[in-house]
Amino acid sequence: MKKLLTVILALAAVACAPKPAGKFLQSDPRVEELMKQMTLEEKIGQMVLFTSDWSVTGPTMRQGYLDDIRAGRCGNLLNAYTADFTREVQRVAVEESRLGIPILFGYDVIHGFRTIFPINLGMSASWDIQAIEKSAQIAAEEAAAAGLQWTYSPMCDISVEPRWGRISEGSGEDPYLGSLIAAAMVRGYQGDDLSSDNTVLACVKHFAAYGAPQAGRDYNTVDMSERWLREFYLPPYKAAVDAGALSVMASFNELDGVPAHANKHLMQDILRDEWGFEGFIVTDYTGINEMVMHGYAANEADAGALSVNAGVDMDMMSASFMNYLKEKVEKGEVSEKTVDAACRRILNLKAALGLLDDPYKYCDPQREKDRTLTPENKAFARSFAAETMVLLKNNGILPLAKGEKVAVLGPLADSKDDLLGSWRGAGEVQSVPASVLDAIKEVTPVSAGANKVVLVIGEPWSWTGEAASRSSIRIPEDQVSILKQLKKQGRKVVVVLMNGRPLDLSEESELADAILEAWYPGTMGGYAVADVLFGDVNPCGKLSVTFPRNLGQVPIYHYAKNTGRPYIHPDAKYESRYLDVPNEPLYAFGHGLSYTTFEYSDITLEGGDSRSESGMTFRGEGTLKAKVTVTNTGDREGTEVVQMYIRDLVGSVTRPVRQLKGFERITLGPGESREVEFTICKETLSFYRQDMTWGPESGDFNIFIGGASDCTKNASFKYEI
Ligand code: GLC
Repeated sequence: MKKLLTVILALAAVACAPKPAGKFLQSDPRVEELMKQMTLEEKIGQMVLFTSDWSVTGPTMRQGYLDDIRAGRCGNLLNAYTADFTREVQRVAVEESRLGIPILFGYDVIHGFRTIFPINLGMSASWDIQAIEKSAQIAAEEAAAAGLQWTYSPMCDISVEPRWGRISEGSGEDPYLGSLIAAAMVRGYQGDDLSSDNTVLACVKHFAAYGAPQAGRDYNTVDMSERWLREFYLPPYKAAVDAGALSVMASFNELDGVPAHANKHLMQDILRDEWGFEGFIVTDYTGINEMVMHGYAANEADAGALSVNAGVDMDMMSASFMNYLKEKVEKGEVSEKTVDAACRRILNLKAALGLLDDPYKYCDPQREKDRTLTPENKAFARSFAAETMVLLKNNGILPLAKGEKVAVLGPLADSKDDLLGSWRGAGEVQSVPASVLDAIKEVTPVSAGANKVVLVIGEPWSWTGEAASRSSIRIPEDQVSILKQLKKQGRKVVVVLMNGRPLDLSEESELADAILEAWYPGTMGGYAVADVLFGDVNPCGKLSVTFPRNLGQVPIYHYAKNTGRPYIHPDAKYESRYLDVPNEPLYAFGHGLSYTTFEYSDITLEGGDSRSESGMTFRGEGTLKAKVTVTNTGDREGTEVVQMYIRDLVGSVTRPVRQLKGFERITLGPGESREVEFTICKETLSFYRQDMTWGPESGDFNIFIGGASDCTKNASFKYEI
C-alpha cells in the first residue's frame, strides 16, 4: 500500500496560538468636525435605523423614510439595495439634509447575496473554514456592488435546539467549530480594508445566547448559568469580535431575567470591558420597544433610555430613540455624553467604510452587473454546496451510475425555491439553473417506474428560519408514506433531505438504502446534489449538530456531562437512561460517511515532559503532540475530517465527556496514508473553574481522535500546572 507520510499541523494549533486582539476603530478628524456642528436631534438621527420599503424582515414598516432622512432624523437604512436605488436615497441624504451625512445601508446577507450558498447549518457541515471565508468574501463583493456597506452576519448563536427554526442560520452546537466559522466569516466580509468597494462591515449576532430558547420557541426565555454561557455560548461571538467585527446586534431574548437589549452585563461588562469591543451595538428589529412586552420597561421612552444606558448605539425600527431620546436627555435620564459616544462610533464607522470620502462609491450599476452571479461565483457555489452534504447512511447503493434508470420523486425534487432556504438575501429563484430533478435528468434517464429511486423529502424552506419553530422534528407523514410505499414495492430508495434542522429520522434510517443530508444547498444546489449522487464528488460533510432519535432525547449534544449514574450496565435500572430508546443519538455530532473508507492508527503522544506507566505528562506552558496516521483504505479519493476531542477526567467543576478541540480536513488518494498531528497546550485544557477563573487544572485527561464525536481511538495523558 502506498504510504505517503506527511505530517499536518492540525487546526488545534489555533487553540494554542495567541488570539488576535480585534480591530480598533480609528477616530476620523472629520467626525469631530461634524459632531461640533450637529444638533442633539441630528446626533440622535445617526442612531436611527429604518427599513426601506424594498423588503420587510420584521413586523412593521415605516412610510416616509425619505422625509426622516432629509430632516436628519434617520442616518441608516436596512433592506435597501441595488446601486441605482441606494444612489437615489444617498442623494437625498447628501444633497437634501442640512449636514449631508451619508446613509449607512445594511442588509441580511446571511449565506450569500445574489449567488446563494447553502444555509449556514449546511456550510458548517463542510468544516471547510477556508471555503466558508471565501463564501463570505463573495457575498461581500456582490453586496457591496449593490450599494450595501453592512451585513447582519455572522449569526453566531450556538444551539442544541432542533425545534428552533433559526438553528438553520447558525453553525450548529459546537463552540470550537462555531468560533472558527464566525472568525472566518468576519474575515471574508471585512477583508483587510473596510473602505474598499468589495468588503462590508460584519455584524455579530444575536448577542447573546439567542439559540437557547426554552421549548425551542423563537424569542422565548433564555436562562443558563454564567459558566455555561461563557463556556459554550459566548465563544463564537468573541471569536468574531477578536477577528475584527465592528458591529454587534443585540438579541430578542432575555438572559437571566434581563432582556439582552438592556443587558449591561452583556454589552458593557463582557463585550466592551472584557473583550475590548470598539464598534457600535445595534438592536434587533423593534428590540427596544419589545422590552415593554418583556415587562422590563413601562413604556417605549423608558425602554429607549434603558437600552442606550446599557450600551445600545443604534435603534432598528423601534423609533424609540427618534421619538423620545431627546426628552430623556433633557430630563437628565440619559447623558448627552452617551449620545455623543454612540453617534461618534457610528460616524467613525461610516468614515472607515469610505462614505465620508465618497458617499456614492458603492453605487456603480456597471460594477454591480460585472460582479454578480459570475460564472466563477456559481462554480464555487456548486463545489462548496457539494462539500456541505452529509452522507448519513449508505448500504452501497451510492454512488449511482450515470446512464442507469432512476426515478426521481418527492415534493422537493423539482423545487428551485426550496434550494435557496431561508434568509436568501437578494437570491432569486429565477437565478437557480436547475432543481434536483433537472440536474439528475441531465446525467441519466429519468423513469418513474425505475427500481432505483431518488426521493427528495424534508421541510419546505418556510418551516425554518425566523419565527419558524416546530413542536415536531419529524418529516411530514405524507412524505414518509411515499418512502414506505416504495419499500413495499421492493424498490431501492436514496433519500435526499432538504431541511434546516436536525430531524427525527428514526423511521427513514430503517427504510432508506441511503440518506444524503443536502440542507438547502443554494443557487447551484440541484447540480451539487447530482454531483454527489453520481460520484463526481465524494461526500465529505460531517454533522455540526447532533441528530436525535426523537424529540424526547433533546437536548442532546456531544459535550454532555457524565452524571453520577451514567448508563453503562445494559440491564441496570437506576442509571441515567430511557426505557424506550438508547441514550445515543441516531447520528452523532461529527458523523458523515464517504464513498471510500478511512482507517485510523492508534494515537501516539510526543513532546511531553515525562512518561510513566500511567502515560505522558506535560507541564505549565509546555505542549503535547498527539499523532495519528489516517489511511484511505478504499478505491477512490476521499476527504476526511479528522476530529480531536478531549476529556478532563476530574475538575473543580464537572467536565464534558468530550469536547472538540481540533480538527483537520485531509484528502487522501486510494491507499494513501497521512500523519495528522494535534498540538495540545494549557489553553486547550482551559475552562471556567469553580471560582470562575479561566485556566487549566492539573490532572488526568483522555484524548479521542476519529471521524466523529463517538470515535473510540483514545489515549491518556497528564497535565501539571
Ligand atoms: C430580524 C432578525 C435579525 C435580522 C434583522 C434585520 O428580526 O432577528 O437577524 O438581522 O431582523 O432583518
